Formats: sequence, structure tokens, C-alpha cells
Amino acid sequence: MSAPIIVTGMTGGTPELGRLNQVIAEAVEEFGLGMGVGSQRIAIEKQETRETFSIARKSAPNAPIIANIGAPQLMKGYGVKEVMDAINMIEADAIAIHLNPAQEVFQPEGEPDYSMDILYKLKDISRSLDVPVIIKETGSGLSMEVVSLFYSNGFKYFDVSGQGGTSWISVEMFRGERKNNWKTESAKLFLDWGNPTAASIIEARISATDAFIIGSGGIRNGLDIAKAIALGADIGGFALPALKAAISGKEALREFFRKTIFEIKAAMFLSGSKSLNDLAKAPLVITGTLREWLESRGISLSTLESVRKRRT
Ligand SMILES: Cc1cc2nc3c(=O)[nH]c(=O)nc-3n(C[C@H](O)[C@H](O)[C@H](O)COP(=O)(O)O)c2cc1C
Repeated sequence: MSAPIIVTGMTGGTPELGRLNQVIAEAVEEFGLGMGVGSQRIAIEKQETRETFSIARKSAPNAPIIANIGAPQLMKGYGVKEVMDAINMIEADAIAIHLNPAQEVFQPEGEPDYSMDILYKLKDISRSLDVPVIIKETGSGLSMEVVSLFYSNGFKYFDVSGQGGTSWISVEMFRGERKNNWKTESAKLFLDWGNPTAASIIEARISATDAFIIGSGGIRNGLDIAKAIALGADIGGFALPALKAAISGKEALREFFRKTIFEIKAAMFLSGSKSLNDLAKAPLVITGTLREWLESRGISLSTLESVRKRRT
């Protein structure tokens, strides 16, 4: 990759969404970035929608592309066959298994079917795969406990997708409101539930010191990506801003990528970081809520500093 940026999984399934996958794929190919596609459940179950996902690989022959399946599908019977189908459909370089317990809880028709079986099943499936599995949240942020659990079971790729950007609790609250659903008030109560992105990145890095970590969730510009890398991420990811730009067209997305890359370089230049590795070790100043968060989670700044120093 030419810059530490990926567009995380969002779309596919209808011709319009396929078109957005194409716009995103063409732009990431041009800029040397990576991308994920949205949940491929629909394409596994409806053959006629496959093209809306495979267009990503056709439009980005060289870019890292990430397949996507929801953890709830594993609970409903998906196994090696379906996971391999998702990977092969787009000749993916990795597959993200997304965790969305908060969405399932507040979705009017949700099925919050989460148990340790997901871990056991995924561990089993991953033995048959020749691409890495990325454990991915969807906007509520991976915690130290979840990362440690997967890491100690051999998983080494994480997309934290922290709280602070797109909120599926909020999406479900608005959907529920329209349907006059009884869960709406409760969703409102939980709107800020989750691990904020900065904390989630640090928690993931502390728990999985040599893992590959995507810092995402509310990342909106190159300075956010630079901060994510300094806190412990290997690359930054965003969903919504890329989607908004892609809806405006390829030129708008190219402009957005150009600006983001400039901002990362500006942050590197101004912090005296000659490389991303320097940026990962740049001096940190942590104040306010994040400092209190780390303290209450038992993460000392000196522990964080020693983990950062060991990064390669
Ligand atoms: C419209 C939309 C659709 C999404 N669909 C998926 C999905 O199918 N699978 C997935 O893992 N995450 C999905 N996400 C979550 C994003 O990949 C990302 O983790 C989350 O939105 C936080 O990033 P953001 O604040 O930059 O949007 C979706 C996000 C958006 C905005």
C-alpha cells in the first residue's frame, strides 16, 4: 500500500451499491490503498447479487481487498464453505468477521445471538483458510477483553471500529422510531455505549502487541489517522466519509484521498517522523478523558510507552 488507509466494509447487494463499490475500488487502486466490501451474506444467498461485490476486485486488481461476513451468520450455520465463497467471490486478501452485538440488541428484528461458540467456530474455520481473519467491530469498539480472547486463540488482525463515528445503535433507534418499535427509547439510552476509538486502539495494542491493528470508527481526516497510528494502529480506516464522497462521484473521492494523504504527511513532517514507524513512536501527550479512561482500565502510560517503543 502507498498510504496507511483503508475504506472499511460497507456496501454491495444492489446495482447502486455495486456502483459505489466500483467507484471506491477504482480510487483505492489508483492511490494504492485498501478496501473492504460490505457483508456478503446477500451474495452468498442470492447469486444474482454477486457481481455487486466482485466488481471491487475487477476494478482494483492490485489493491488489498477484504471480504466480510457477520459473526451472527456463523451462529446461524455458516461454515468453511460460505466463508470461502465470500473470499473467492472477490479474490480477497483477508476476511473481516464483523461483531455487531449492540446493533443486534437494539434492532427491532435483531437476534443478539453471541456466545463463545463464535470463537470456537471461527478458530475451526480459520484453519482451512489461506488468508487472515480480521476481527472487526462495527462502531462500538473492540475492548481489551475481546482482543485478548481472540489473540490468545491465534487471531492477529483486528479492526477496532471504535465508538465516536457511525453508530448502529443510532441507526436502529431511527429505524425503530419509524416503526414505532418499543426498543427506541432504550436505544436512545445506549447511544454513547462502547469503547471510544482512541481508547480501543490502545486497549487492542496493549493486549496484542504484535498484531496488525486497523484504527477506525470516527476517523474523518489524515490527522485522525496519524493520531491513530501514534496510539497503536498500523493503518487507519474510515467508512462513512468515503461513502459520502463516493456518492458525490469518483472525483470527490479522489479529492478526499488526496487531502487525507497530505494531512498524514503534514502530521509526520511536523512531528519529525520520517517514516510510519517513527510516527508510531512519536512522543504522546495524553490528557483528559482518555487519560482517565486508561487509568480506570489499569493501563499505565509507562506500559503504553514500552509497548510503543517495541513496535517495528
Ligand atoms: C452504510 C454503512 C454500511 C456498513 N456496513 C457494514 C458491513 O456490512 N459490514 C461491516 O463489517 N461493517 C459495516 N459498516 C461499519 C463500517 O465498516 C465501520 O466499521 C463503521 O461505520 C465505523 O466507521 P465510520 O465511523 O468511519 O463510519 C457499515 C458502515 C456504514 C456507514
